[in-house]
Amino acid sequence: MKVFKPQVIRYDSLPSTNTEAARLAVLGVEEGLCVVADEQTAGRGRLQRTWLSPKGAGLYCSTLLRPIIPLDQWPLLTFMAALAVSDALRNACDLETDIKWPNDLLSGERKICGILAEAIDTEQGRAVVVGIGINLTKEAFPATLADVAISVEEATSRRPNRETILAALIVAMAHWYSLAQAAAGREEILASWTSRSSYAKGKRVKITNGDQVVSGITCGVESDGALRVETDHSGMKIIRAGDVARVRPSRDVA
Ligand code: BTN
Repeated sequence: MKVFKPQVIRYDSLPSTNTEAARLAVLGVEEGLCVVADEQTAGRGRLQRTWLSPKGAGLYCSTLLRPIIPLDQWPLLTFMAALAVSDALRNACDLETDIKWPNDLLSGERKICGILAEAIDTEQGRAVVVGIGINLTKEAFPATLADVAISVEEATSRRPNRETILAALIVAMAHWYSLAQAAAGREEILASWTSRSSYAKGKRVKITNGDQVVSGITCGVESDGALRVETDHSGMKIIRAGDVARVRPSRDVA
């Protein structure tokens, strides 16, 4: 089994911890490297979005992995990361979270953590940088997002300790990553992800990918992590990218 040797490097400020981890990956650094910054000046989110990262308001970190698993299984690495954050918030803060496909962590239906996994080619082979941004305090996001975002402080009514969460996260990443390297472990990742996600099955959703919109009911995930959706008018669709939003049933007006 591949050993994950954690090594944390800290910075006061970086444009993006993902960019720095990718730079170090190209220089040949071993997997397990975890780049942490107090703030990011050009933090990046999924789908080319910006991830605001004010000083001290969030946990901004990126872990370098060099997985030896079939390429078509790589999307499971983002499931693995979501499970690791879920464990870390449970163990360090006593906070239970939901997972929205593919890898947003929610508390009370508001986003508390985002994950951006980026594959990169290096001389040592293809690597992946798993970037994690956890909202620790409400300063992590603008007040205009208060209805869709939440911080650990608000969710737990306690001031979170960034170092305790980071330590729990690294332990959890090592655990799930070792499972990701074996077929039986990958099944466990899928099963655990499904059991911790209210979005996995039976949820009415709308999925937007560019100008394409799919609406329907979720029906579990494929072995590579793609989301199965029974659409309203065109049968089962397998979704590999996009933004998922919950659709609440409309009330009949008498
Ligand atoms: C998302 O859009 O939900 C993903 C957000 C990922 C943000 C994290 S913060 C640490 C790492 N560095 C980045 O530039 N992005 C990720």
